[in-house]
Amino acid sequence: MNSYLVAPSMGLAGQVTVPGDKSISHRALMFGAIASGLTHVDGFLEGEDCLATLRAVANLGVGVRRPGPGEVVVEGVGLRGLAPAPGVLDMGNAGTAMRLFMGLLSAQPFDSVLVGDESLMRRPMERVAKPLREMGARIETAAGRPPVRITGGARLRGIRYSLPVASAQVKSAILLAGLYADGETTVEEPAVTRDHTERMLQTFGCEVTARVGIATVRPPARLEGARISVPGDFSSAAFFIVAACIGAREPFTIRGVGVNPTRTGLLEMMALMGADLRLVNHRTCGAEPVADIEVRPAPLRGIRVPQRLVPLAIDEFPAFFIAAACAEGETVVTGAEELRVKESDRIAAMARGLEVLGVRNEVLPDGLRIEGGPIGGGVIESAGDHRVAMSFAMASLRASAPIEIRDVANVATSFPGFAALARSVGLTLEERAGSA
Ligand code: S3P
Repeated sequence: MNSYLVAPSMGLAGQVTVPGDKSISHRALMFGAIASGLTHVDGFLEGEDCLATLRAVANLGVGVRRPGPGEVVVEGVGLRGLAPAPGVLDMGNAGTAMRLFMGLLSAQPFDSVLVGDESLMRRPMERVAKPLREMGARIETAAGRPPVRITGGARLRGIRYSLPVASAQVKSAILLAGLYADGETTVEEPAVTRDHTERMLQTFGCEVTARVGIATVRPPARLEGARISVPGDFSSAAFFIVAACIGAREPFTIRGVGVNPTRTGLLEMMALMGADLRLVNHRTCGAEPVADIEVRPAPLRGIRVPQRLVPLAIDEFPAFFIAAACAEGETVVTGAEELRVKESDRIAAMARGLEVLGVRNEVLPDGLRIEGGPIGGGVIESAGDHRVAMSFAMASLRASAPIEIRDVANVATSFPGFAALARSVGLTLEERAGSA
């Protein structure tokens, strides 16, 4: 089992560019696959999750070329050109891949079976299967979890669906199935979630109407191959945002980050804590806004996180909990029960790790209460969760003793090169390979 050994350091200095956005990379491959003509992607995230999508797309009969680092050319086969995969489709650790493919494959004339790694095989899939069945899909889960078995040839009809849980993955799966349905498909969400699907479908020439919290798709005659430039992943930038807030020696910059407002709840949360953050050099990357994020060290104070920000920062809570541990006073997060069904139970995994480091906290059914204070060292179990592992690496900037983080191989799912990048800006981080 691989681990990180992170020792207290002199603090963060310099600037970083983080790898491409995971959500956008998955979508570029999938939409490119069912478009007509070529789709050129640059800035593609070459992490394990998106490589699982790339393999799946290839297994469905789509030509995929990788002419250079971060570049992918997808030879789209058109809306009705996918071919049955030769075997089960393995999504690895990638929940986004599995859920979006459930929508896409429900509409195909052939059968498919979707599986994943140990973590993904435990994650809930009925939230996607249920609305798809309402559309007419024939789709089975194993007591709510993968494997997901899809029987092809179903005729789908458009629905209007109110999501019981705010989830961009479920929304996107329904919209993808909606591309093939009779009539229009509308998804209403209880709180705004990331809108990359809506934006990118428009780039591929599909008519999507998106208002706050409601998206409608009409089945297009075809999608047109497109050029997609993938911005830096805000969720990867989050580790360096928090690191700079708690441990920068000087102003610190994260360059070229996607700052789609449906993703940047962490910026508001950190600003409420007193952080000094500035977005500069605004530009766009296709349909997505991009900026550099400048962080100046400033004292943080504990906050009660406004619930509306929870879905807008859903992947950033592990990093945010480290900021909370470094803040003066108490921080409370509620309404975040979704954290329990991510790559790990992130409430439990973060609470246990903080406890090891001597940070007092109370686990709530739907969140966490954290009392800021001194941070010690110790051995942390990441629960195989990439974001838990990277968050505790950043805690070393305030720790009084070394921290060992176990089971870090999954960092490669979203952030290849994390350890080297963290070292380049001042973290004292050693990677150790070990047996399980
Ligand atoms: C994602 C949506 C979120 C997020 C995940 C990526 C997406 O999941 O946690 O990492 O790309 O649509 P939920 O939609 O389940 O909240």
